[in-house]
Amino acid sequence: MEDILDIQNVSKKYQQKNGETLALKDINLKIKKGEFVSIIGPSGCGKSTLLSIISGLEDKTEGKIIVENEEVNGVSSKIGYMLQKDCLLEWRTIYSNVLLGLEIKGIKNKKNTQYAENLLKKYGLFDFKDKFPNQLSGGMRQRAALIRTLSVKPKILLLDEAFSALDYQTRIKVTEDIYNILKKEKITTLMVTHDITDSRF
Ligand SMILES: Nc1ncnc2c1ncn2[C@@H]1O[C@H](COP(=O)(O)OP(=O)(O)OP(=O)(O)O)[C@@H](O)[C@H]1O
Ligand SMILES: [Mg+2]
Repeated sequence: MEDILDIQNVSKKYQQKNGETLALKDINLKIKKGEFVSIIGPSGCGKSTLLSIISGLEDKTEGKIIVENEEVNGVSSKIGYMLQKDCLLEWRTIYSNVLLGLEIKGIKNKKNTQYAENLLKKYGLFDFKDKFPNQLSGGMRQRAALIRTLSVKPKILLLDEAFSALDYQTRIKVTEDIYNILKKEKITTLMVTHDITDSRF
């Protein structure tokens, strides 16, 4: 199976007035299509920095990011990024939150809307589509945020401690849920966490 993501010799230095921080040094990582890879490391070791660089939101100091054999500089529509916070908009219903990604990308057509609706049905949120985020549990919110991210059909999904805001038991359940969704939808995933129980999947 070919590598879908190839990180080559990536380094990152943050420059500040009072000096510089070497957040990443010479990182190399290859991920094959369909793999689910977890990176575990203590706070401050550079996990979020790595994901921000892969997503194109942060510049790298050195190295290359290659997605499907093409070098990526900047934001790529092939990459979905889910942060620790679910970032749902409280004034929009779950349905219109889920369609937000399609709106932003300017690809909210009938086919893509139907795809998003199917994801809502498949993963038990369709009956809640007219509710607002604060009417859902933490786990349901995470699922809604995931469906929003998946609606634009990313090839690679980056998860940054996406479940750490949840209590322990909910986190186990949601991590399992989300793992199953990603396996079913065959999404290549790179997840970072400092929690070894999250990474056992
Ligand atoms: N915008 C920034 N400007 C300057 N330094 C930064 C910036 N972002 C991160 N750093 C530094 O880079 C290093 C790595 O930070 P990063 O946020 O990637 O760690 P992390 O592994 O995600 O930690 P955590 O588990 O706490 O989320 C840290 O020393 C941090 O202080
Ligand atoms: Mg982090």
